[in-house]
Amino acid sequence: MSRTIPQGPRVAPSILSADFGALRSQVAAVLEAGARIIHVDVMDGHFVPPLTIGPAVLASIADLIHESEALADVHLMIERPERHVQAFAKAGADIITFHAEATPDLALCASRIREAGPLVGLALNPGTPVAAAAQMAGEVDMVLCMTVSPGWGGQKFISGSTEKVAELAAMLGGRAAIEVDGGIDAATAPGCARAGAAVFVAGSAIFGRPDPAAAYAELAEAVAPSG
Ligand code: DX5
Ligand code: ZN
Repeated sequence: MSRTIPQGPRVAPSILSADFGALRSQVAAVLEAGARIIHVDVMDGHFVPPLTIGPAVLASIADLIHESEALADVHLMIERPERHVQAFAKAGADIITFHAEATPDLALCASRIREAGPLVGLALNPGTPVAAAAQMAGEVDMVLCMTVSPGWGGQKFISGSTEKVAELAAMLGGRAAIEVDGGIDAATAPGCARAGAAVFVAGSAIFGRPDPAAAYAELAEAVAPSG
């Protein structure tokens, strides 16, 4: 299985909004519809107030994700993420993204992830300037630009995020893929795509809908290059 971030626009369904009683069948449905990145939101009750899921839940769907040659994209909203890298790598993570605000040593955390095997992502909160990622630009595979404050699904896309994505794209100059996360739907995603985002996380716009597979297809169409 290749661990590279797929080229071009990709919609990454976030299981945060899924029905956890039917998690495998919900993930299977979006994989069947074409999803090749499944986003897994990990929250610790400290970095962000809620608690969500840990490695055991990732392990329960990793086989399904990998059978479709898709990537398990783990978004760590936790303090001292470097302490948990091994557990998520073992549970099947293909990309591990940590927050610039959550650890004193970005380079150390990135190298722990790299050594464990997964691709490396660095996330920036809405209030964190693009410059915070500059020192890591050549060291990471992906930069996640939060387009809401992390912690909850179903929030409204922060206006001005599109400009931040464009600023990030200019700073990165193609060295890392840009992922956007929060309030992404068919109305907000196309502007992010034009600004340079390549991976579009969507929770409520997919799993909050009655037919997640159809919602995935609709969003994939909204970010597809026109013409
Ligand atoms: C929020 C999480 C998101 C969340 C997005 O902190 O990082 O991945 O699932 O949810 P929506 O798409 O509903 O904004
Ligand atoms: Zn996320």
